Amino acid sequence: MANSIIVKKKIDSFNKKITVSGDKSLSIRWVLFSSLASGVSIANNLLLSEDVRAAIKAIRKLGIKVILKKNICKIFGKGINGYNYKKNITINAQNSGTLGRLILGLLINTPFPIRIVGDKSLSKRDFKRISDPLTNFGAKFKLKDKKYLPLKIIGSNNLKSIKYNENRGSAQCKSAVIFGGMRAKGTTIINAKKSRNHTELLSKYLSLPIKVNKKKRYDLIKINKTNKIKPLNYKIPSDISSSAFFIVLTALSKNSKLLIKNVNVNSSRIGVITILKKMGVKIILKNQKIYRGEKNADIFIKSTKNIKSINCPTELNSKAIDEFLVIFLIAAKANGVSFFKNLSELNEKESPRLDWAKTILNKIGIKTITTKDSIKIFGNPNLKVSGKIIIKNFLKDHRVFMTSVIAALVFGGDWKIHDKDSIKSSFPNFLKIIKELKKWSKGKIY
Ligand code: S3P
Repeated sequence: MANSIIVKKKIDSFNKKITVSGDKSLSIRWVLFSSLASGVSIANNLLLSEDVRAAIKAIRKLGIKVILKKNICKIFGKGINGYNYKKNITINAQNSGTLGRLILGLLINTPFPIRIVGDKSLSKRDFKRISDPLTNFGAKFKLKDKKYLPLKIIGSNNLKSIKYNENRGSAQCKSAVIFGGMRAKGTTIINAKKSRNHTELLSKYLSLPIKVNKKKRYDLIKINKTNKIKPLNYKIPSDISSSAFFIVLTALSKNSKLLIKNVNVNSSRIGVITILKKMGVKIILKNQKIYRGEKNADIFIKSTKNIKSINCPTELNSKAIDEFLVIFLIAAKANGVSFFKNLSELNEKESPRLDWAKTILNKIGIKTITTKDSIKIFGNPNLKVSGKIIIKNFLKDHRVFMTSVIAALVFGGDWKIHDKDSIKSSFPNFLKIIKELKKWSKGKIY
């Protein structure tokens, strides 16, 4: 089967209710926490994507039994020191920065060296940002060119607590150090620029010895050595990052309405909603409820005619870090010039996404001015796209693929988008849901 799709026609109006798949950050964290628990943990609605499957394979390699049937998963934890594995194992984090980085925090006491490898995209990403703080606990690392995968981690049985300033707003760095702190003697202190806080909320729900003192832009996190983790039964809510594609699709389609059921709307994740609302998009959160310390809600969106440009406040950057590519499509249709800045982290993702934003926007006839860490987007409320557009060689970045599909469906043109398989890492059902929203006429999407 061809690994590209062709989209030749805009989507017609729709009025539907959908459910997108489980949250990726929560699914991976659930797998990692459960692998350390004393007893059996069960998850419902686990995201069945390659990133999460890689996490399951990783803990199996560490000697943990896992049973996965459809999206119900059972993990048989053997306690916080229950990993049991052969010498010289290799863990393949595939495309997942979250897995590759967070798991290192759990391995800083490994008695045998462990090799971590990843796919082509992950092998271009910075792992020094994790090995640096974890080295201070007493673990040792060998990285390719001192920064990249493959890496080798050699643990220590004499780990000391550390002080760490996390200034990037990276939840992956923060979480790896929280996991490390759980294994080290004494109190580890992290001064962390705000970022998604699922690790802290799960720790709180599990009553672990971790305290968070919230400041305006930073959180002060204190972690003490953890002796026991109780099993964690969890119904994973839907992913806001996957929902974002459908929020934008609806906002930019004519006469359409959409309800997305039971999405995780943790305030550290909903930058996309805040930004789009500021731009005039009609979004309402319904049925808000708290589950295991996390806020979930249904998201209702309506087509929006008059989109305003935005000078995006930088404090929203980490809250929308995975959604910017698709947010930029809204800016393409805005009345005026939008400006997004301090976004160097966007070029540290599965592909250099700021560069890809420019490429996609320029291909649809939108003028941009980019620097190393910012983009100005000259919106055109009358934007119509025609002619052939080909999107390829994007390091199989799932979000470049999905953003391109949404652009094709709302702006028109004759698109060929390569590497369809990329969606398997975060949102394997993406194209299926698109097809549900519109019964495709023959030959329009393959
Ligand atoms: C994630 C954190 C973010 C995000 C990634 C998932 C997580 O990365 O981009 O997709 O689950 O912790 P950074 O922490 O590197 O910003």
